[in-house]
Amino acid sequence: MNFKIYHFKKIQSTNNHAIKMIKNNHLKGIILADEQTKGRGRQGNKWISLKGNLFMSLFFKIKQNVSIKRITIKNTGKIKKVLQRFCKKKIFIKLPNDFLIEKKKICGILQETIFHNNQKFLIIGIGANIKKSPKILGYPTSHLEAYSSKKINKLTICRCIKKEYEKKN
Ligand code: BTN
Repeated sequence: MNFKIYHFKKIQSTNNHAIKMIKNNHLKGIILADEQTKGRGRQGNKWISLKGNLFMSLFFKIKQNVSIKRITIKNTGKIKKVLQRFCKKKIFIKLPNDFLIEKKKICGILQETIFHNNQKFLIIGIGANIKKSPKILGYPTSHLEAYSSKKINKLTICRCIKKEYEKKN
C-alpha cells in the first residue's frame, strides 16, 4: 500500500484534514504539518503542538469487523519500532496511546474511525515530541532529541513511518 505525503506549513489538525480528504473520496494518504493550530488529543484534550515537533496522520481503509484493540497493538508497535531507531533509551508503550521514556511522554496517538461510502477508514494521528517538551502541569513530558546525540529530522521519521506502513502486514 503506497502512501502519498501531503505536507502543510500550518493547518488546524492533521486528523481533521485526513477526515476531510476521506470525505473528498481519497482512499489513503499521510498528512504532515509543520504547525497545528487546533491539535487534538484523546478524550477531547488539546494537543499542545510546539513547532519543531512531529504532527502527522495516516489514513486508509480497514475491514468493518476488525477490533480496535488489535489495531492499537499493531499501530503502537509499528510506531515504537520507528521511534526507537532514533534514540538510545528504551521506549515503553502505555496502551492505548502513550509512548514513554523514563516515565515521560514523548509521543501520543489519536486513532479515529469514520464511515464513508459504506467503507470504514482508520485515521492514526501521531504527535511526537522531537525537539521540545510541552509543559503540562502534573504530567511529565520529554522529547526524543534529549535522548539522542544527533539532531532528529521529523521528515525522516515521517518517511520511516510511511515505509513501515507500506510493508506487507
Ligand atoms: C494523545 O496522547 O492524547 C494523542 C495525541 C495525538 C496528537 C496528534 S498530533 C497529529 C494528529 N493531529 C491531531 O490533531 N492530533 C494528532
